Amino acid sequence: HSIDWSADMAEKGGYDHFMLKEIHEEPSAVRDTLTEWDEVLGVVEEIGEVERICFVACGTSYHASLVGKYLFEGLLGIPTDVILASEFRYSAGALNDRTLAIFISQSGETADTLNALRAANSRAKTLAIVNVLGSSATREAQHVLYTRAGPEIGVAATKTYVSQLTVIYMLVAAMGAPELMDRLGRVPEFMERALKDEDGIRELAATCSDVSDFFFIGRGFAYPTALEGALKLKEITYIHGEGYAAGELKHGPLALIDNGVPVVAISPPGPCHDKTLSNVEEVRARGARVIGVGSISDESLRKEADDFIGLDPEVDDVISPLVYIVPLQLLSYHVSVERGLDPDKPKNLAKCVTVE
Ligand code: G6P
Repeated sequence: HSIDWSADMAEKGGYDHFMLKEIHEEPSAVRDTLTEWDEVLGVVEEIGEVERICFVACGTSYHASLVGKYLFEGLLGIPTDVILASEFRYSAGALNDRTLAIFISQSGETADTLNALRAANSRAKTLAIVNVLGSSATREAQHVLYTRAGPEIGVAATKTYVSQLTVIYMLVAAMGAPELMDRLGRVPEFMERALKDEDGIRELAATCSDVSDFFFIGRGFAYPTALEGALKLKEITYIHGEGYAAGELKHGPLALIDNGVPVVAISPPGPCHDKTLSNVEEVRARGARVIGVGSISDESLRKEADDFIGLDPEVDDVISPLVYIVPLQLLSYHVSVERGLDPDKPKNLAKCVTVE
């Protein structure tokens, strides 16, 4: 009895798709990226005094940058801008030699990001955070840090996202918040626990694969997670997904909430928790189907939610971006498969965008 084991299956390590394999590789991607600590310390020393940070990126890398803003401003009090690379030439005014411009790109080849990097090189200190060794961004930036995610084949970024976040957290730790390092060290174990609940997420996906709209809401550190959750959904399921700051709902999107519209409410333990819960009550009162994502011991969110995804109670809002994205990636993946699509190769999208 022989098993038909194609080269393709072997490359996918037994998983149906690269994306699923890459999501399951996230704990080791974070562990490997944490080994870059000495490089991070070295770069921070070389860079010297920094009065302002300016992140520049596209797509998923832009969402990693947004988390960076909450960290640099919230933990270190350093004013931070986050600029879409394609808008950089129209809106980046505040660069000077005490500004650190950070370019985030898994490929290191995105045209808009490279153009912005070239424009910034003479006006600011520049640092590229990149996954692909020797890529263009690594050759052009003054300083480089690598994410150690390994090759990512799926078009939708997954493990490169959590590796980018890991480098950003390490930078913040090295620049004045060393207490982050202990918590970062535990992230892989929190992720592993989240991955164990995949069956539940698959079942959930089967019940919401034929809707036309999805909303993702979060406050503070959970806001970038809402945006990234919505982006994953759009990319691989072709369902309209919208990420919103929970507090902005009543300024527009609430008008779109009707009976049965799924609203994924991302609410880790922390100072924003109760405010997000009142937003959950608002959408629930309008008939939304609430999918709560919170601590497994969060009884108040569980009570308001139709479906609930529980994560380790020790994951607070500050480190939640690294862990709470895992079930959202899995949800999009399983909705995509449920709809008969190929999550690895979404239509109209490319892994690397080398045109403006
Ligand atoms: C493309 C990819 C996305 C990625 C974005 C930015 O749109 O499909 O997954 O987030 O480019 O790419 P970069 O390589 O600069 O991170």
